[in-house]
Amino acid sequence: MLKNFWYALEFADRVTRQPRKVTCLGQDFVLYRTEAGAAVCLSDLCVHRGGALSMGRVTGDCIACPYHGWQYDATGACVKIPANSEERKIPRKARVDAYPTVERYGMVWAFLGDLPEAERPPIPVIPEHDDPSYRMVQFEMEIDANYERAFENVVDAAHTPFVHGTAFGNPDKPEIPDFRVRQTDWSAEADIQLSPPLPKGLWGLLARRRPRAEYVTVTNAWYLPNIVKLHVRLPIGDLLLYDFNIPLSQERTLIKILGYRNFFTGAWADANARKRIEKILLQDKPVVESQRPELLPFDLSDELHVRSDSLQVAYRRRRLELKKQGWWVGGDDIITGDGPRRTATVIAS
Ligand code: FES
Ligand code: CO
Repeated sequence: MLKNFWYALEFADRVTRQPRKVTCLGQDFVLYRTEAGAAVCLSDLCVHRGGALSMGRVTGDCIACPYHGWQYDATGACVKIPANSEERKIPRKARVDAYPTVERYGMVWAFLGDLPEAERPPIPVIPEHDDPSYRMVQFEMEIDANYERAFENVVDAAHTPFVHGTAFGNPDKPEIPDFRVRQTDWSAEADIQLSPPLPKGLWGLLARRRPRAEYVTVTNAWYLPNIVKLHVRLPIGDLLLYDFNIPLSQERTLIKILGYRNFFTGAWADANARKRIEKILLQDKPVVESQRPELLPFDLSDELHVRSDSLQVAYRRRRLELKKQGWWVGGDDIITGDGPRRTATVIAS
């Protein structure tokens, strides 16, 4: 799993004065809001006896552990130990890791890593979010697969006719014309020609009135560490899915999706849009969960690649580079936040 990136951890409207536990990179975090409304992200592990802060209470800008009531402020520093008499000093080591947060695109993001602000990779730009011609729905689903398998699946155009033959792929025309990958340090993108099936249902009825194109252009993109974009140009408009593949553990992934459309932009069509996203994900789920090995290999010669896998190959090359630079964490590694590295449980003097 890649450290030193901004990770979208939760939909912003779920981050309130009520503490909320989230998991990413195999670590637990607690999210809550200060009185002024700023999102706070702390390690969910109380340094006293390992209580879960997310089961505690927010008072003022602080969060109180449910076990012995230690209070931590928004920087992770312990500011109150109720069992101690007032004159006892709070040990300096009594603090939990705090992670910088940003709110964007209706998500709360936390920086999970140890890079200074100026060196942090950027949060991807989602231009549709502020474009009033688009309507957005949120969706989420957990799957029993590693997040990189889920991530690669979304940019993988060649699976569409087989896995999504009944949704938007065309099983009669599976070949993918060659495409060019445009790459930066943190992302890659390609315009891919896919043969569309004859659409069904209400959208299909509308589409049937127009001459059917031989190919539709689908723009697939990935953004490090875990975001994938799918931009489908339907006869009736543009559909964009931004997929956040959040690693809960090595084997389990929480997929959060922001889905944008510039057709049927009324709230009445939201439920249908969510249903279509769910249908596509449920088609992908069993296939991605069955992949072996569960973890994406690091050795590029470990699996066979063909021309239509170019976006995934670009990803594998880039993650290998970053791994060599020490950006890879897995297993028992702990990513510390802004505060000093935590050692053992401290004794309140
Ligand atoms: Fe958190 Fe004791 S475990 S206060
Ligand atoms: Co798919």
